[in-house]
Amino acid sequence: MYQLYDLVNLHDELFREEIKKRLAKIVDTNAFIEGEYNTKFEAEFAEMQGANFCRLVANGTDAIEIALKAYEIGSGDLVAIPGITFYATAEAVFNIGATPILVDVEEESGVMCPKSLERVVADYDIKAAIPVHIYGLPCKMDEINHICRKNNIAIIEDAAQASGTITPLGPAGANPHSVATFSFYPTKNLSAMGDAGAILSHDPNVTKKIEIIRNHGRGGVGEIGRNSRCDHFQAAVLQHKLSFIEEQNQRRKEVAALYMKNITNPEVKLLPNKFIQTSSWHLFPMRVRNNNVAKALVTYLKQKDIASSDIYYAKSMGLEPALDGVKGEREIANSLAGKTVCIPITPFLTSEDVLKISSAVNSFCYEITKDETPRPQL
Ligand SMILES: Cc1ncc(COP(=O)(O)O)c(C=O)c1O
Repeated sequence: MYQLYDLVNLHDELFREEIKKRLAKIVDTNAFIEGEYNTKFEAEFAEMQGANFCRLVANGTDAIEIALKAYEIGSGDLVAIPGITFYATAEAVFNIGATPILVDVEEESGVMCPKSLERVVADYDIKAAIPVHIYGLPCKMDEINHICRKNNIAIIEDAAQASGTITPLGPAGANPHSVATFSFYPTKNLSAMGDAGAILSHDPNVTKKIEIIRNHGRGGVGEIGRNSRCDHFQAAVLQHKLSFIEEQNQRRKEVAALYMKNITNPEVKLLPNKFIQTSSWHLFPMRVRNNNVAKALVTYLKQKDIASSDIYYAKSMGLEPALDGVKGEREIANSLAGKTVCIPITPFLTSEDVLKISSAVNSFCYEITKDETPRPQL
Protein backbone atom coordinates (compact mmCIF):
# COMPACT_ATOMS: atom_id res chain seq x y z
CA MET A 1 0.00 0.00 0.00
CA TYR A 2 1.36 3.44 -0.92
CA GLN A 3 0.82 5.61 2.16
CA LEU A 4 -0.01 9.28 1.93
CA TYR A 5 2.70 10.02 4.49
CA ASP A 6 5.72 7.75 4.84
CA LEU A 7 6.88 7.94 8.47
CA VAL A 8 8.48 4.49 8.27
CA ASN A 9 11.14 5.57 5.77
CA LEU A 10 11.43 9.01 7.34
CA HIS A 11 12.29 7.47 10.70
CA ASP A 12 14.63 4.75 9.44
CA GLU A 13 17.19 2.86 11.53
CA LEU A 14 19.92 5.49 11.17
CA PHE A 15 17.53 8.30 12.10
CA ARG A 16 16.21 6.40 15.12
CA GLU A 17 19.75 5.74 16.39
CA GLU A 18 20.52 9.48 16.37
CA ILE A 19 17.21 10.34 18.04
CA LYS A 20 17.79 7.74 20.77
CA LYS A 21 21.20 9.33 21.48
CA ARG A 22 19.61 12.76 21.71
CA LEU A 23 16.83 11.47 23.96
CA ALA A 24 19.39 9.77 26.24
CA LYS A 25 21.26 13.07 26.53
CA ILE A 26 18.05 14.90 27.46
CA VAL A 27 17.15 12.25 30.06
CA ASP A 28 20.67 12.27 31.51
CA THR A 29 20.70 16.04 31.87
CA ASN A 30 17.04 16.44 32.94
CA ALA A 31 16.78 19.33 30.48
CA PHE A 32 13.23 18.69 29.36
CA ILE A 33 11.96 22.14 28.48
CA GLU A 34 13.57 24.73 26.20
CA GLY A 35 17.04 23.23 26.09
CA GLU A 36 20.04 23.65 23.80
CA TYR A 37 18.29 22.02 20.81
CA ASN A 38 15.52 24.62 21.05
CA THR A 39 18.06 27.43 20.81
CA LYS A 40 19.94 25.73 17.95
CA PHE A 41 16.81 24.98 15.98
CA GLU A 42 15.45 28.51 16.42
CA ALA A 43 18.67 30.04 15.07
CA GLU A 44 19.01 27.58 12.16
CA PHE A 45 15.36 27.63 11.07
CA ALA A 46 15.24 31.46 11.13
CA GLU A 47 18.33 31.56 8.94
CA MET A 48 16.99 28.94 6.53
CA GLN A 49 13.74 30.87 6.05
CA GLY A 50 15.31 34.33 5.86
CA ALA A 51 13.78 35.60 9.12
CA ASN A 52 15.51 37.41 11.99
CA PHE A 53 13.89 35.40 14.77
CA CYS A 54 12.25 32.03 15.31
CA ARG A 55 10.42 31.06 18.48
CA LEU A 56 9.27 27.49 18.99
CA VAL A 57 5.80 26.95 20.48
CA ALA A 58 3.66 23.92 21.29
CA ASN A 59 1.83 23.55 17.93
CA GLY A 60 0.76 25.36 14.76
CA THR A 61 -2.61 26.53 16.09
CA ASP A 62 -0.99 28.15 19.14
CA ALA A 63 1.52 29.74 16.75
CA ILE A 64 -1.32 31.59 14.96
CA GLU A 65 -3.06 32.55 18.21
CA ILE A 66 0.15 33.83 19.81
CA ALA A 67 1.13 35.76 16.67
CA LEU A 68 -2.29 37.46 16.65
CA LYS A 69 -1.92 38.32 20.34
CA ALA A 70 1.61 39.61 19.81
CA TYR A 71 0.11 42.04 17.28
CA GLU A 72 -2.48 42.96 19.95
CA ILE A 73 -5.39 41.63 17.93
CA GLY A 74 -8.21 40.57 20.23
CA SER A 75 -11.84 40.75 21.17
CA GLY A 76 -14.06 42.26 18.48
CA ASP A 77 -11.30 42.69 15.89
CA LEU A 78 -11.88 41.47 12.33
CA VAL A 79 -9.35 39.05 10.84
CA ALA A 80 -9.35 38.10 7.14
CA ILE A 81 -8.92 34.38 6.43
CA PRO A 82 -9.19 32.48 3.12
CA GLY A 83 -12.24 30.39 2.26
CA ILE A 84 -10.08 27.28 1.90
CA THR A 85 -7.85 26.24 4.76
CA PHE A 86 -7.57 23.71 7.54
CA TYR A 87 -10.07 24.60 10.27
CA ALA A 88 -7.30 25.57 12.76
CA THR A 89 -6.81 28.93 10.99
CA ALA A 90 -10.37 29.98 11.85
CA GLU A 91 -10.18 28.33 15.27
CA ALA A 92 -7.16 30.47 16.25
CA VAL A 93 -9.11 33.62 15.34
CA PHE A 94 -12.13 32.52 17.40
CA ASN A 95 -9.94 31.52 20.34
CA ILE A 96 -8.62 35.06 20.79
CA GLY A 97 -12.16 36.49 20.65
CA ALA A 98 -11.73 38.03 17.19
CA THR A 99 -14.10 37.51 14.23
CA PRO A 100 -13.05 35.89 10.95
CA ILE A 101 -14.03 37.56 7.68
CA LEU A 102 -13.82 35.35 4.61
CA VAL A 103 -11.66 36.21 1.62
CA ASP A 104 -12.24 34.25 -1.57
CA VAL A 105 -9.53 32.14 -3.20
CA GLU A 106 -7.75 31.88 -6.53
CA GLU A 107 -9.60 29.47 -8.84
CA GLU A 108 -6.29 28.04 -10.05
CA SER A 109 -4.71 27.14 -6.73
CA GLY A 110 -7.17 27.70 -3.86
CA VAL A 111 -4.97 30.22 -2.01
CA MET A 112 -6.17 33.67 -0.82
CA CYS A 113 -7.10 35.92 -3.75
CA PRO A 114 -5.56 39.42 -3.47
CA LYS A 115 -8.41 41.00 -5.48
CA SER A 116 -10.96 39.57 -3.08
CA LEU A 117 -8.81 40.74 -0.14
CA GLU A 118 -8.80 44.25 -1.60
CA ARG A 119 -12.61 44.29 -1.79
CA VAL A 120 -13.00 42.84 1.71
CA VAL A 121 -10.55 45.40 3.12
CA ALA A 122 -12.60 48.19 1.49
CA ASP A 123 -15.80 46.88 3.11
CA TYR A 124 -14.60 45.94 6.60
CA ASP A 125 -12.20 47.34 9.19
CA ILE A 126 -9.75 44.44 8.96
CA LYS A 127 -6.99 44.40 11.61
CA ALA A 128 -5.06 41.31 10.46
CA ALA A 129 -4.96 38.99 7.44
CA ILE A 130 -3.95 35.33 7.50
CA PRO A 131 -2.98 34.14 4.02
CA VAL A 132 -2.54 30.36 4.11
CA HIS A 133 -0.05 28.53 1.86
CA ILE A 134 -2.48 25.66 1.56
CA TYR A 135 -1.11 22.29 0.33
CA GLY A 136 2.26 24.13 0.31
CA LEU A 137 1.22 26.43 -2.57
CA PRO A 138 2.53 29.98 -2.26
CA CYS A 139 0.11 32.86 -1.79
CA LYS A 140 0.72 35.99 -3.87
CA MET A 141 2.55 37.60 -0.97
CA ASP A 142 3.78 40.58 -3.02
CA GLU A 143 0.20 41.69 -3.74
CA ILE A 144 -1.11 40.76 -0.28
CA ASN A 145 1.78 42.60 1.37
CA HIS A 146 1.03 45.70 -0.70
CA ILE A 147 -2.68 45.73 0.22
CA CYS A 148 -2.02 45.10 3.91
CA ARG A 149 0.72 47.69 4.27
CA LYS A 150 -1.39 50.32 2.52
CA ASN A 151 -4.21 49.63 4.99
CA ASN A 152 -2.14 49.10 8.14
CA ILE A 153 -3.16 45.44 8.45
CA ALA A 154 -0.97 42.93 10.29
CA ILE A 155 0.02 39.90 8.17
CA ILE A 156 0.31 36.42 9.63
CA GLU A 157 1.31 33.85 7.01
CA ASP A 158 -0.12 30.48 8.00
CA ALA A 159 2.80 28.38 6.79
CA ALA A 160 1.72 25.22 8.62
CA GLN A 161 2.06 23.29 5.34
CA ALA A 162 4.82 25.42 3.88
CA SER A 163 8.28 24.40 5.07
CA GLY A 164 9.94 24.70 1.66
CA THR A 165 7.41 26.99 -0.06
CA ILE A 166 8.82 29.94 -2.01
CA THR A 167 6.47 32.93 -2.24
CA PRO A 168 7.12 35.95 -4.52
CA LEU A 169 8.76 37.55 -1.43
CA GLY A 170 10.92 34.52 -0.66
CA PRO A 171 10.35 31.66 1.79
CA ALA A 172 7.55 32.06 4.34
CA GLY A 173 9.11 34.16 7.07
CA ALA A 174 11.40 36.18 4.79
CA ASN A 175 8.99 39.11 4.38
CA PRO A 176 10.05 41.74 6.94
CA HIS A 177 6.42 42.94 7.23
CA SER A 178 4.80 39.65 8.20
CA VAL A 179 5.20 36.89 10.73
CA ALA A 180 4.95 33.29 9.57
CA THR A 181 3.57 30.44 11.65
CA PHE A 182 4.46 26.77 11.21
CA SER A 183 3.09 23.44 12.37
CA PHE A 184 5.49 20.54 12.86
CA TYR A 185 2.74 17.95 13.29
CA PRO A 186 4.21 14.50 12.42
CA THR A 187 2.85 14.45 8.84
CA LYS A 188 4.29 17.81 7.82
CA ASN A 189 7.39 18.08 5.54
CA LEU A 190 9.39 19.24 8.55
CA SER A 191 7.94 17.31 11.45
CA ALA A 192 8.35 16.58 15.14
CA MET A 193 7.62 13.23 16.80
CA GLY A 194 4.64 14.81 18.54
CA ASP A 195 3.26 18.32 18.45
CA ALA A 196 5.32 21.46 17.86
CA GLY A 197 5.08 24.77 16.02
CA ALA A 198 7.04 27.96 15.43
CA ILE A 199 6.67 31.66 14.69
CA LEU A 200 9.14 33.53 12.48
CA SER A 201 9.47 37.28 12.59
CA HIS A 202 11.77 40.22 11.90
CA ASP A 203 10.63 42.52 14.69
CA PRO A 204 12.39 42.23 18.07
CA ASN A 205 9.39 43.73 19.91
CA VAL A 206 6.94 41.23 18.40
CA THR A 207 9.40 38.44 19.17
CA LYS A 208 9.71 39.56 22.80
CA LYS A 209 5.92 39.48 23.11
CA ILE A 210 5.83 35.97 21.63
CA GLU A 211 8.38 34.83 24.25
CA ILE A 212 6.34 36.36 27.04
CA ILE A 213 3.01 34.91 25.87
CA ARG A 214 4.31 31.37 25.28
CA ASN A 215 5.64 31.19 28.84
CA HIS A 216 2.82 32.36 31.14
CA GLY A 217 3.54 36.05 30.70
CA ARG A 218 6.95 35.68 32.37
CA GLY A 219 9.27 38.57 31.61
CA GLY A 220 6.38 40.90 30.84
CA VAL A 221 4.34 43.34 32.88
CA GLY A 222 0.74 42.28 33.23
CA GLU A 223 0.51 40.27 29.98
CA ILE A 224 -1.84 37.29 30.13
CA GLY A 225 0.22 34.47 28.74
CA ARG A 226 -0.26 30.72 28.54
CA ASN A 227 1.84 27.58 28.40
CA SER A 228 2.89 26.98 24.82
CA ARG A 229 6.51 25.93 25.34
CA CYS A 230 8.02 23.39 22.98
CA ASP A 231 9.68 20.53 24.82
CA HIS A 232 13.34 19.72 24.34
CA PHE A 233 12.78 16.31 22.77
CA GLN A 234 10.67 17.77 19.93
CA ALA A 235 13.32 20.44 19.35
CA ALA A 236 16.01 17.73 19.24
CA VAL A 237 14.05 15.85 16.55
CA LEU A 238 13.39 19.00 14.53
CA GLN A 239 16.98 20.19 14.73
CA HIS A 240 18.21 16.84 13.40
CA LYS A 241 15.64 16.88 10.58
CA LEU A 242 16.84 20.31 9.44
CA SER A 243 19.98 18.64 8.11
CA PHE A 244 18.05 16.85 5.34
CA ILE A 245 14.88 18.90 4.79
CA GLU A 246 16.23 20.73 1.73
CA GLU A 247 17.21 17.49 0.00
CA GLN A 248 13.80 15.97 0.84
CA ASN A 249 11.91 19.02 -0.44
CA GLN A 250 13.94 18.86 -3.65
CA ARG A 251 12.86 15.24 -4.15
CA ARG A 252 9.23 16.25 -3.57
CA LYS A 253 9.58 18.75 -6.45
CA GLU A 254 10.97 15.99 -8.69
CA VAL A 255 8.06 13.71 -7.78
CA ALA A 256 5.58 16.54 -8.50
CA ALA A 257 7.22 17.15 -11.89
CA LEU A 258 6.99 13.44 -12.73
CA TYR A 259 3.31 13.31 -11.76
CA MET A 260 2.63 16.37 -13.90
CA LYS A 261 4.32 14.77 -16.87
CA ASN A 262 2.68 11.37 -16.51
CA ILE A 263 -0.87 11.99 -15.26
CA THR A 264 -2.94 12.55 -18.37
CA ASN A 265 -6.45 11.53 -17.33
CA PRO A 266 -8.80 14.30 -18.58
CA GLU A 267 -11.07 13.68 -15.54
CA VAL A 268 -8.31 14.96 -13.28
CA LYS A 269 -7.12 18.57 -13.24
CA LEU A 270 -3.57 19.18 -12.04
CA LEU A 271 -1.93 22.39 -10.94
CA PRO A 272 0.02 24.35 -13.56
CA ASN A 273 3.73 23.51 -13.96
CA LYS A 274 4.76 26.90 -12.59
CA PHE A 275 4.19 25.56 -9.07
CA ILE A 276 6.77 22.79 -9.42
CA GLN A 277 9.59 24.93 -8.03
CA THR A 278 7.58 27.08 -5.60
CA SER A 279 5.34 24.67 -3.68
CA SER A 280 6.64 22.73 -0.68
CA TRP A 281 4.55 19.81 -2.01
CA HIS A 282 3.26 18.94 1.43
CA LEU A 283 0.36 17.50 -0.57
CA PHE A 284 -0.22 16.81 -4.26
CA PRO A 285 -3.78 17.99 -4.94
CA MET A 286 -5.80 16.92 -7.98
CA ARG A 287 -9.19 18.40 -8.76
CA VAL A 288 -12.15 16.54 -10.24
CA ARG A 289 -15.54 17.75 -11.45
CA ASN A 290 -17.58 17.19 -8.27
CA ASN A 291 -17.65 15.63 -4.82
CA ASN A 292 -19.14 12.32 -5.99
CA VAL A 293 -16.37 11.85 -8.55
CA ALA A 294 -13.83 12.70 -5.83
CA LYS A 295 -15.33 9.97 -3.62
CA ALA A 296 -15.25 7.50 -6.53
CA LEU A 297 -11.58 8.34 -7.18
CA VAL A 298 -10.67 7.79 -3.52
CA THR A 299 -12.41 4.40 -3.59
CA TYR A 300 -10.72 3.47 -6.86
CA LEU A 301 -7.24 4.39 -5.65
CA LYS A 302 -7.72 2.43 -2.42
CA GLN A 303 -8.56 -0.63 -4.48
CA LYS A 304 -5.29 -0.09 -6.33
CA ASP A 305 -3.42 0.02 -2.99
CA ILE A 306 -2.91 3.75 -3.06
CA ALA A 307 -3.95 5.55 0.09
CA SER A 308 -5.29 8.85 -1.08
CA SER A 309 -6.13 11.63 1.28
CA ASP A 310 -9.80 11.21 1.13
CA ILE A 311 -11.04 14.67 0.21
CA TYR A 312 -9.00 17.71 1.14
CA TYR A 313 -10.91 19.87 2.10
CA ALA A 314 -14.40 18.46 2.19
CA LYS A 315 -15.89 21.82 3.21
CA SER A 316 -14.86 25.38 2.55
CA MET A 317 -14.65 27.58 5.64
CA GLY A 318 -17.88 29.29 4.60
CA LEU A 319 -19.70 25.94 4.82
CA GLU A 320 -18.35 25.03 8.28
CA PRO A 321 -21.17 25.22 10.85
CA ALA A 322 -19.00 27.33 13.21
CA LEU A 323 -18.59 29.93 10.46
CA ASP A 324 -22.24 30.06 9.52
CA GLY A 325 -23.16 33.71 8.99
CA VAL A 326 -19.56 34.90 8.86
CA LYS A 327 -19.23 37.79 6.43
CA GLY A 328 -16.96 38.25 3.41
CA GLU A 329 -16.56 36.55 0.02
CA ARG A 330 -16.81 32.81 -0.53
CA GLU A 331 -18.13 31.99 -4.01
CA ILE A 332 -15.03 30.38 -5.55
CA ALA A 333 -14.04 28.66 -2.30
CA ASN A 334 -17.49 27.09 -2.03
CA SER A 335 -17.34 25.96 -5.66
CA LEU A 336 -13.95 24.26 -5.13
CA ALA A 337 -14.72 22.52 -1.83
CA GLY A 338 -15.05 18.75 -1.84
CA LYS A 339 -13.44 18.24 -5.25
CA THR A 340 -9.78 17.76 -4.34
CA VAL A 341 -8.10 14.40 -3.85
CA CYS A 342 -4.43 14.15 -2.86
CA ILE A 343 -2.10 11.31 -3.85
CA PRO A 344 1.09 10.29 -2.02
CA ILE A 345 3.98 12.69 -2.44
CA THR A 346 6.90 11.75 -0.25
CA PRO A 347 10.66 12.06 -0.79
CA PHE A 348 10.90 8.26 -0.61
CA LEU A 349 8.86 7.45 -3.71
CA THR A 350 11.00 6.04 -6.49
CA SER A 351 10.37 7.09 -10.08
CA GLU A 352 8.90 3.63 -10.63
CA ASP A 353 6.44 4.19 -7.76
CA VAL A 354 5.41 7.53 -9.28
CA LEU A 355 4.79 5.91 -12.65
CA LYS A 356 2.66 3.18 -11.03
CA ILE A 357 0.56 5.72 -9.13
CA SER A 358 0.24 7.91 -12.26
CA SER A 359 -0.93 4.97 -14.30
CA ALA A 360 -3.52 4.08 -11.62
CA VAL A 361 -4.85 7.67 -11.78
CA ASN A 362 -4.88 7.50 -15.59
CA SER A 363 -6.93 4.30 -15.59
CA PHE A 364 -9.65 5.85 -13.39
CA CYS A 365 -13.03 6.09 -15.07
CA TYR A 366 -16.54 5.72 -13.75
CA GLU A 367 -20.06 4.91 -14.74
CA ILE A 368 -23.06 6.82 -13.48
CA THR A 369 -25.40 4.51 -11.57
CA LYS A 370 -29.21 4.71 -11.61
CA ASP A 371 -29.17 6.92 -8.52
CA GLU A 372 -26.76 9.21 -10.41
CA THR A 373 -23.74 8.34 -8.28
CA PRO A 374 -20.46 7.80 -10.13
CA ARG A 375 -19.13 4.26 -9.57
CA PRO A 376 -15.49 3.57 -10.45
CA GLN A 377 -15.06 0.99 -13.20
CA LEU A 378 -12.58 -1.67 -12.18
C1 LIG B 1 -3.12 25.30 7.33
C2 LIG B 1 -2.96 24.85 8.75
N1 LIG B 1 -3.03 25.75 9.75
C3 LIG B 1 -2.88 25.40 11.03
C4 LIG B 1 -2.66 24.10 11.39
C5 LIG B 1 -2.59 23.75 12.84
O1 LIG B 1 -1.40 23.12 13.22
P1 LIG B 1 -1.36 22.15 14.50
O2 LIG B 1 -2.15 20.93 14.17
O3 LIG B 1 0.10 21.89 14.71
O4 LIG B 1 -1.95 22.90 15.63
C6 LIG B 1 -2.56 23.12 10.40
C7 LIG B 1 -2.34 21.71 10.76
O5 LIG B 1 -2.50 20.80 10.03
C8 LIG B 1 -2.73 23.50 9.04
O6 LIG B 1 -2.67 22.60 8.05
